[in-house]
Amino acid sequence: MNDFETYLHSCLNDIQESSVKDAMEYSLFARGKRVRPRLLFQTLEAYQQKECIGYGCAAALEMIHTYSLIHDDLPAMDDDKLRRGQPTCHIKFDEATAILAGDALLTLAFDILVKDVKNSDHAVTLVRYFSKYAGADGMILGQIRDMEGEEQSNLSIVDLENIHIYKTARLLTLPFISAAILSDREEDIDIWKQIGDKIGLSFQIQDDVLDVIGNSEVLGKNVGSDDNRNKSTYVTLLGVDCAQDLAKQLYDEALELIASLKIQSNGLIKMIQELNQRFY
Ligand code: IPE
Ligand code: IPE
Ligand code: MG
Ligand code: MG
Ligand code: MG
Repeated sequence: MNDFETYLHSCLNDIQESSVKDAMEYSLFARGKRVRPRLLFQTLEAYQQKECIGYGCAAALEMIHTYSLIHDDLPAMDDDKLRRGQPTCHIKFDEATAILAGDALLTLAFDILVKDVKNSDHAVTLVRYFSKYAGADGMILGQIRDMEGEEQSNLSIVDLENIHIYKTARLLTLPFISAAILSDREEDIDIWKQIGDKIGLSFQIQDDVLDVIGNSEVLGKNVGSDDNRNKSTYVTLLGVDCAQDLAKQLYDEALELIASLKIQSNGLIKMIQELNQRFY
């Protein structure tokens, strides 16, 4: 991961100095867990590939994820003031700079994908998946349904599952799909989609639980954000204990699906088991 961090820094080297560049670096190099890059590297290892062939993809993914967080925190969305252990981008800079830093991270991600994925067939396939899974039919669809859901007190578990699958599971599926593409194992993509849905849904249920029972210093973001916005979550619908049980069940189902693939999955399984225990 140290080499990846060095590479990620180098991705911004050629950008001209500006407050937008400062804001991009401020958010990207804060203490994110790097879950999506690490899932990509573990899946590549399961395919017996070197981690470094995934650097371009992993950087693009972390940039898109970071942009989604910068915009998610804006006053027009969740209006949050703490992220990755520091003031949110719009608090540290201002709203215009934060919006533009998010936009710039999103566009840079596609430049890096095309520049640093060496096989151009792979690059084209990846650009299409990244566009779909991050865009108006992916993460953004989940975010707008999440925002519209704030006005509705009668969201069902099915509605919430749909929101979580789009807003969170889509970006958490990209590491698996990317590793399959880079390893010339596109026949595995359908099963990785099912795995990504389960891991993404479980990850967001845990996020909802941690928003209620987590510790702000450990999490690096303020707790109680969902309650302040009157959001329906798995905790408001099921309670903390049932939500935690469901998160564990989904991780177990994901592990069963992983066992059906012809890969060396020890490292990946260990990482997913660690995610299951996470408290930040
Ligand atoms: C937070 O994602 C937003 C969700 C999709 C739940 P992470 O928990 O991966 O955030 P960072 O990258 O560690 O800041
Ligand atoms: C956000 O979900 C998912 C994104 C697409 C950014 P949340 O709004 O619950 O994420 P946090 O709790 O702010 O990290
Ligand atoms: Mg949100
Ligand atoms: Mg939020
Ligand atoms: Mg949350």
